[in-house]
Amino acid sequence: MNQTIDLMNAHRSIRKFTDREVNDRTLATIIAAAQCAATSHFVQAYTVIRVRDMDKRQTIASLAGPQAWVARAPVFLVFCADLNRLEAVCRIHDTAAEKGWAEQFVTATVDAALLAQNVLLAAESLGMGGVFIGGIRNDPQTVCDLLAIPDQAYPVFGMCLGWPAHDPPPKPRLPVEAVLFTDRYPAGHDQGLLEDYDRTTNHYFLNRDSNLKDETWSRQMADFMGRVIRPHMKAFLEKKGFFLK
Ligand SMILES: Cc1cc2nc3c(=O)[nH]c(=O)nc-3n(C[C@H](O)[C@H](O)[C@H](O)COP(=O)(O)O)c2cc1C
Repeated sequence: MNQTIDLMNAHRSIRKFTDREVNDRTLATIIAAAQCAATSHFVQAYTVIRVRDMDKRQTIASLAGPQAWVARAPVFLVFCADLNRLEAVCRIHDTAAEKGWAEQFVTATVDAALLAQNVLLAAESLGMGGVFIGGIRNDPQTVCDLLAIPDQAYPVFGMCLGWPAHDPPPKPRLPVEAVLFTDRYPAGHDQGLLEDYDRTTNHYFLNRDSNLKDETWSRQMADFMGRVIRPHMKAFLEKKGFFLK
């Protein structure tokens, strides 16, 4: 349709990278473009930390899984939802910032996510690739300790970036008819559509370039939804000053 939509349709997470460096100027260009994402109330409630220190990187790679690509990627970024800058501007104006509201948590987290998706897309537009790393939330306190992330900020996810050393096929998404509706929420979820999608994803899992398996999307999701994942997050977020009221 056009180059932007072609680029978006071609997305696939990249977990193997060549040794080619990503220079500071390229990274700054990517971040500046990504900052043009919409931001709730213009708050820009995010901070990005590039982790260059290899000891820190190794620790994060271990606690995230381990995930070897976290240690090996030319660039590893940690995206923080961050209310501290906003508190600082309140001090400039001698006003007190409200703290701990769930709405502030949502605002900052959404802002960080919009920024991050734009980062990945901008990188992909330059021929680079990458992958989000939610695995850092396995032990978010250690990530905060390593990177000196203060209260009123938390690491939402990381991201590996670099030049792709593999070319996996894109993962098929749900059909648009399964996610887009008009005027009201659907009365039910179309079983036929989901069965078709299972056939599509089964074909993908059996034929992709690595980690072949006889799997379907619905089976994966049934397994995922049946597990308690990162039960420490509520207490962690409260400790960081989020989500208190
Ligand atoms: C918030 C978030 C966290 C993720 N965390 C990880 C992760 O820790 N490790 C990983 O290898 N992939 C991670 N992914 C990548 C997803 O597994 C991937 O996007 C999904 O399977 C779809 O595949 P695709 O990106 O290749 O289309 C994450 C993606 C998102 C959006």
